[in-house]
Amino acid sequence: MKNMITVKVKARKADPLKCACDVLCVGVWAQEKLDKFAKQVDDALAGGIGKLIELGDFKGSVATSALLYGNDGIPAKRVLLVGLGEKKKAKLDTVRDAASLASLKAVEIKAENVCMAMHYSFGGKFDIAQVAQATAEGIYMGSYRYDEFVAEDKKDGRVDEVLFEVVESDSNKLRKMRKGVDGGVVIGQSQSLARTLCNRPANYVYPQVFADEAKKLAKQTDGLSCTVFDEKQLEAKKMGGIIAVGKGSVNKPRMIILKYSPKNKAAEKLPTVGIIGKAITFDSGGISLKPGAAMDEMKMDMTGGAAVLGAMKAIAELRLGVNVYGVICAAENSLSGESYRPGDIITTYSGKTVEVLNTDAEGRIVLCDGIAYAKEIGCEPIIDIATLTGACMVALGKHKASLMSNDAKLIKQLQGASVKSGEALWHMPCGDEYAEEIKSKIADLKNIGSKWGGSCTAGSFLGEFAGETKWAHLDIAGKMDASEPMKKIMSAGSLGFGVRLFVAFIDGLAKKK
Ligand code: BES
Ligand code: ZN
Ligand code: ZN
Repeated sequence: MKNMITVKVKARKADPLKCACDVLCVGVWAQEKLDKFAKQVDDALAGGIGKLIELGDFKGSVATSALLYGNDGIPAKRVLLVGLGEKKKAKLDTVRDAASLASLKAVEIKAENVCMAMHYSFGGKFDIAQVAQATAEGIYMGSYRYDEFVAEDKKDGRVDEVLFEVVESDSNKLRKMRKGVDGGVVIGQSQSLARTLCNRPANYVYPQVFADEAKKLAKQTDGLSCTVFDEKQLEAKKMGGIIAVGKGSVNKPRMIILKYSPKNKAAEKLPTVGIIGKAITFDSGGISLKPGAAMDEMKMDMTGGAAVLGAMKAIAELRLGVNVYGVICAAENSLSGESYRPGDIITTYSGKTVEVLNTDAEGRIVLCDGIAYAKEIGCEPIIDIATLTGACMVALGKHKASLMSNDAKLIKQLQGASVKSGEALWHMPCGDEYAEEIKSKIADLKNIGSKWGGSCTAGSFLGEFAGETKWAHLDIAGKMDASEPMKKIMSAGSLGFGVRLFVAFIDGLAKKK
């Protein structure tokens, strides 16, 4: 990555009240008296925090912060108060979001050395290692900036490198926290990688570039290997879905397969999970061309694929004890004399034929080949992830991603991972009547249903390819980029949604065994 901010995160034994840093970050609950630690900071600041609250300038609400300046009572140059909201509503996500906001602000004020002490507010409420992990994840979320094409002197004045230290004076706690921080660093860096791939424009990231990135990752990472099918191999394998979608572009499609196997011998006998990502490096809609407004955002239509890549990086670096295949279906949906057309009938990798009625419903057409391939290589369960439909945002807004599945246990497991990772999912229906809507009169399936329930018919289309195999589908269209309220705690552009969710899901499976 060129000229992007370097973020370092460490756990360190120190008394936060004695840290000479640019900013000391402290959590404050809403509608509560200052907790023990915040009170100590307040005393050191000669009652500055209390005054701020008394005047009503800071209430401790979520996604709010206030900056105070150190004096002789405290070596920190500044104290950043971060609102934690109501204590009874606190979740692990509260820690993550608070750390994200603190880091966003710290970068804004050009801090180079930041002491994080928000975890003091969560004493006893959650497992300290999990609090530390969420803190480190939040630090990466908030400090990330996408500015690699911005001139050095115009990069919002930000510094090139920031060190965040999660400081704790109790060595017993610190030992557990260090493990959490280290895990959070791996996950945070993986999420940032996904964000950068999505934020990079489509003239820089096209299917071959995505493939190169996956190859590079596999080379750098123990336990990870990568295979790429280029357009010739896709033709030879008769992967008709991904070929059709990619045909209109000079940037030819690729199927990218990342394989992770844990080191232990017993792993050979374990089931293999398949995670399949939609990576449309640009979605113009094809011949069913999209309107011009906001079409640029479709450079992020590869968010599902980026989530798979990021998750594979984290899963391998954390050496989780489950076999995982990551299958990334990369294509550019462009229009030219060679593009696939409305009315075309294509034969997908599974052998099922699809009548194309709208070339803009392309995600399901690339994914069905990915799902069929994952089935062939023995993956179960299979989970696909895609910025699949605008209809998903009509249904859920931009606050949650939709979850569809043919298996009750898998739904529960993913919902559990969602709570743990803070990446919100909402269970929606698929199959049954929805599946009826995508039956074609002249082919096995058609690629769009009726006017209504577009997210559910899209999910049902994919479900037809999973068949009896345990499968789930995540429509993350609404989580493609930052909108309110996320915009308050993360910079604009890609959210890198899905990385944390997959890691939590796979970690959950590994711990069960
Ligand atoms: N990539 C889009 C969906 C999308 C839109 C994601 C906006 C994120 C933000 C997808 O390929 C698409 O165009 N879907 C169509 C399907 C329709 C033609 C049935 C849509 O949602 O309009
Ligand atoms: Zn589309
Ligand atoms: Zn798309």
